[in-house]
Order: sequence, then C-alpha cells, then structure tokens
Amino acid sequence: MAPLLQLKHVVKRFGGLLATNDVSFDVEEGEVVFIIGPNGAGKTTLFNLISGYVTADSGEILYQGQNIVGLKPYQTTRLGIGRTFQIVKPLPSLTVRENVMLGSFLHARSRAEAGKKADEVLGFLGLDRRADQLASGLPLAQRKLLEVARALATGAKLLLLDEVMAGLNPTESAEVVTLLRKLKDFGVTAVGGVEHIMRVVMALASRVVVMDQGGKLAEGSPQAVVHDPRVVEAYLGSKYQKGGAPP
Ligand SMILES: Nc1ncnc2c1ncn2[C@@H]1O[C@H](COP(=O)(O)OP(=O)(O)OP(=O)(O)O)[C@@H](O)[C@H]1O
Ligand SMILES: [Mg+2]
Repeated sequence: MAPLLQLKHVVKRFGGLLATNDVSFDVEEGEVVFIIGPNGAGKTTLFNLISGYVTADSGEILYQGQNIVGLKPYQTTRLGIGRTFQIVKPLPSLTVRENVMLGSFLHARSRAEAGKKADEVLGFLGLDRRADQLASGLPLAQRKLLEVARALATGAKLLLLDEVMAGLNPTESAEVVTLLRKLKDFGVTAVGGVEHIMRVVMALASRVVVMDQGGKLAEGSPQAVVHDPRVVEAYLGSKYQKGGAPP
C-alpha cells in the first residue's frame, strides 16, 4: 500500500531564504514520525506545507496518493490532516467546549452532534472538567491539550503536533506522552511530531527525520539518529551543552 503521506523533493523559499531544500520523506499508516533539528531548521515550515498554510514552490506532497500542493488549510483538514500550532491560539472568549466544537463542526450535521463529538474528545484528553471554562483561563498544559482536542475533533487521520510538550514540566509531559500513545484508538492512523525534548521523541517516535538549514540531514530509527555523528554535531551536541537532558 502507498504511504499515507509522501513528500517528494519539496522546495519552499521565503525571499532569499531556502526554508525547505529538496526534502523527501514518507509517513506510513501506523507510524509516529518526529522531526527534530535546531531552531529555524524548517520544521514548522514542513507542517505548514503539508497542511496548506504555505504552498510549495516545487516538489510534490502526496496524501493518500493525491497531490495536495495548492490546497488550502480547510481542504487539507477535510481530507483528514489535523495539526496543532506551536503558538497556541484558542479563541479566548469561547469556552473550551466551544473551541473544540469549531473542529467537530467540520463533519457534524447539527450542533448537538458537534457537541457530542467535542465531549468525547474532551473526555479522552481529560479536559472534560474544564469544558465550560473560558479558554483564556486555561493553564499552558491544558491550552496545549485544547489544540490537540480541536484537531482530533475534526476527525484527523494524520495528526501533526508542533511542540505540544514545550513549556510543560516533566510530569505534565509524561501525562501527554501517555495520552498520545492512545491516539490510535481515536481514529488517528499516523502522527507527525516536532519536539525539542529528546526524552519525548525517544519515547514516542517510530522514526525520526532530522532537519538542518532547510534540508534533511538524516533519517532513521530514534536510536540510529541520536548516535549519528552529523546529528550530534548539528543539533544534539549544542543542545546538551545548553543543558538539555541526554536521551
Ligand atoms: N511565513 C514566513 N515568511 C518568511 N520567513 C519564514 C516564514 N516561515 C518561516 N520562515 C523562516 O523560515 C525558517 C524556518 O522556520 P521554521 O519556523 O520552519 O523553523 P523551525 O525549525 O520550526 O524552528 P523552531 O524550532 O524555532 O520552531 C526560519 O528562518 C524562519 O524565519
Ligand atoms: Mg517551529
């Protein structure tokens, strides 16, 4: 069977900056693929390209065999590509439940049906206690989960998680790791993640893609990648010198 997602020689420039330089990789059904690399390496740009927030200059992005380059975000969402944002941005004047319903309205035929789907997702993520609270009052860990909830409520099959663990303490991130392991029970068939916290990457990833300066530096199993001298030099070495925990 063809991979769920295929990037083929994808190129994206912002002015003179080559943010994505001939990047190719696949995500198969059932896989959890993490993208790692230094700040500015082009990780978020890859998610923006896949989800249609920016458009590739050249190359192909195939989802279920269909070239999705040029599709708008609402169209990729409809196809089953869900994502979270590195900078979380719930609508602050809506409740947690209403924010999630913005996702579930994509497929629901009524307000009641959208509410039911939202409640299912909120229960799964342990946010049900917060459902009627304004999103603006949520602590960071819960705001991050709200992003995941909104994406799940759209019925995402491929879920792209951009630094959902950033800013969480170790206890909170361990709880989120446990939740993410159960995403498959919730209709998600593949996950793409971006994280700087290697403990999380090692715990969740079936494969790791390493980005550096817009290009793919390496790709492989988590164990192979963290022992790759090029990866240590470009990313992990400097990260550990800054006090990051070893994997
Ligand atoms: N819409 C845009 N317009 C212009 N430049 C952009 C745009 N989006 C990203 N860039 C630039 O592209 C490069 C890659 O950015 P990107 O956000 O993909 O990095 P990243 O790997 O996600 O970094 P971080 O780990 O800090 O989140 C950066 O130099 C960034 O400034
Ligand atoms: Mg980023």
